[in-house]
Amino acid sequence: MTFPHRHLLGIEQLSAPDLTRLLDLADTFLEISERPIKKVPTLRGRTVINLFMENSTRTRTSFEIAAKRLSADAVNISGSGSSTSKGETLLDTARNLEAMRPDIVVLRHSASGSPHFIAQRVGCAVVNAGDGAHEHPTQALLDCATIRKHKGRIDGLEVAICGDITHSRVARSNILALSRLGARVRVCGPGTMLPVGIEAMGATVVRRLDDALDGADVVMMLRIQKERQGAPLIPNTREYARTFGLGPRNVGLAKPDAIIMHPGPINRGVELDPAVADGSRSVILDQVTYGVAVRMAVLYLLGGGIEVSTSGGSAGSDAEKRS
Ligand code: CP
Repeated sequence: MTFPHRHLLGIEQLSAPDLTRLLDLADTFLEISERPIKKVPTLRGRTVINLFMENSTRTRTSFEIAAKRLSADAVNISGSGSSTSKGETLLDTARNLEAMRPDIVVLRHSASGSPHFIAQRVGCAVVNAGDGAHEHPTQALLDCATIRKHKGRIDGLEVAICGDITHSRVARSNILALSRLGARVRVCGPGTMLPVGIEAMGATVVRRLDDALDGADVVMMLRIQKERQGAPLIPNTREYARTFGLGPRNVGLAKPDAIIMHPGPINRGVELDPAVADGSRSVILDQVTYGVAVRMAVLYLLGGGIEVSTSGGSAGSDAEKRS
C-alpha cells in the first residue's frame, strides 16, 4: 500500500488512518534501535539532506540516526554553516541541493510555511522538521506514539498542554493529531500566550493550571519560546514558574497514573520542576527514543520503502528479507 502523501508538511494534511499507519510503523521500527547492529538496508542508496536553519538537538540528530539506521546516506547542513549566511535565499539553497539529487530534504526554518514553499518548487520529498510557530509534525507523531505506548490508546484521553501555546508549533501539531485520534485536549497558559481562535483547532482553553491538570491522563509542559516573542509576555520568570509551572505541589491534581511529557529543551525550574522532570511519571526520554522510530517511519514511507507487515515480523526483519 503506497503512502498517499509525497511530503510530510504538517499534521493538518494527515487523516486519522494516516496517523495510525505512521504510529503502527514506528512501533515496528522501535525494535531496530534495540539491536546490537542497529541497521537495516531498506533505504540503501537513498540520500536524505537535513537542512536545519534553526538550532536543534533532538530533531536533527534523530533524523540523521533514523536515516542511517535505514541505510540511507544522511547529510546535515546548518544555517550558520550554509551559504545563506552569505545572502543566498532559502529557495536558491533548496534548488542547489536538489541539483545533487537527494530523495528527501528535511527542513527546519523559523518562517512558518517555508517547507510548503520549498515542497512546491523541488522534485524531492520535503519533511517539515518545525516551521516557525506553525507545525512540528514529527514531534506530534512521536508524542502520540509515546502516549499510545504508556496509556494503550489515545481515544478518550484527557490531555493538558500547558505553557506558551501561542508560539508553540508542538502545541499546534499535537492539538491536531490528538483530537483527530479521539483525545480531548485542554490548553492552558498566561492570557498573553493563548492565541485567539485556538478552540477552532479542537482544543478547550482553561485559564488556571490547577483546572487544566484536574483529571488529566497526560500533561504536556511547554517551554516559553523567547526566540519567537517580541516584547516580554510575562512579568518575570519566577512568577511564571509559580503560576504556570508543574512541580510536586500540583502534579497530584492529574490522575494518579498520568504521564508527564515535554518536547524539550526543558527550562528546568521554570515550566517544569526537576523533581517532576526526572520523576517516575516522566516519559520525556521515551519521547526522544520514539523520535528515532517515528522519523524512520516517515523517511521509510516518503523514501519509497516497500510497506512492511505490522501484523507479524518486525520491520527490520522484513526489510532484511528484501535486501
Ligand atoms: N523537540 C524538539 O524539536 O527539540 P529540538 O529543538 O532539540 O530539535
